[in-house]
Amino acid sequence: AQGEQQQLSEECQELLNTLPKERGWRTQHLYLFQGFWCQPKEIQAIMSVQRNFIAQDSDVVLATIPKSGTTWLKAIAFTIMNRKNIPVQNDNHPLLTSNPHELVPFLEYKLYADNCIPDFSTIPCPRLLATHMPFSALPQSVKESGCRVVYLARNPFDTFVSIWHFMEKLRPESFGCLSFEEAFDMYCSGVVGFGPYWDHLLGYWNESLQRTQKVLFLKYEEMKEDTNSQLKKLAEFLGLPFSIEEEKGGVVDEISRLCSFQTLKDMEVNKNGKGAIFADSENKDLFRKGVVGDWINHMTPSMVDRLRNIMDKKLSGSNLSF
Ligand code: A3P
Repeated sequence: AQGEQQQLSEECQELLNTLPKERGWRTQHLYLFQGFWCQPKEIQAIMSVQRNFIAQDSDVVLATIPKSGTTWLKAIAFTIMNRKNIPVQNDNHPLLTSNPHELVPFLEYKLYADNCIPDFSTIPCPRLLATHMPFSALPQSVKESGCRVVYLARNPFDTFVSIWHFMEKLRPESFGCLSFEEAFDMYCSGVVGFGPYWDHLLGYWNESLQRTQKVLFLKYEEMKEDTNSQLKKLAEFLGLPFSIEEEKGGVVDEISRLCSFQTLKDMEVNKNGKGAIFADSENKDLFRKGVVGDWINHMTPSMVDRLRNIMDKKLSGSNLSF
């Protein structure tokens, strides 16, 4: 743990010494910070976001737990919000040359990472930002301003399978193997980045029920099933509904196609580019299969039962199901 604390502020190092910790997925440890599990550098960045970020009424914040389709949501929201200035079929559309994470920065990985205070003058308004933080951890100004929050949820089975594969690519060899079974035990105990998974879901779900104009709750599975209708819902929520002319002109279809798994996966920047989120990661690892239900190829029936039981208990009474 010494190594992973070295580049942190003294304040953060001291805090870490007081927090409960467990074995990490790609760092030595995950720490229980403000009720969720987090890596050391993320904790430092989140503290800075909480202290320094002031939301504007026009801001849009995209929120997810890792591997729920963040990359997809970023591509879609960016394209919808910029379609007046950058027509979808423009030969210079930014998605043709940039990974979605380069277009929509994470508060905690890009903007406030490494003890930086970002220069927001370079980010055009309305600002489109992203986070993996649970709702409870968002800065007060996000909760109290007119800022809109879009949450994308994905079923826990696919989210687990996706994160396990992703971490396989990112975990340093020196940390040894984290078997699928060990990782599953950790996941079921809630020990996963920004988890417990169910708390993350419920935080945004409950808020979306209370502040329908400000928090939109989307599901990956519904986006897959009928992308166009979810795109329309999102555009309306953002105050940028598609006009009849746009719909007739096929703009919704074009956005679906541009942001689809296959289109993005095949872009040069996503095949051979690096560092869209972490300096040491390859962009291609963000595009694995992009389907619903791949868990069936990985999880045993008893694993499925165990996680289903946990989810049933945790979500009972919430009206939320997967
Ligand atoms: P799989 O590992 O199941 O394939 P995140 O973007 O939050 O890191 O989530 C990554 C998951 O979303 C991966 O799931 C990835 O393949 C999938 N994904 C990435 N781009 C997508 C897209 N345009 N449409 C649908 N799924 C996508």
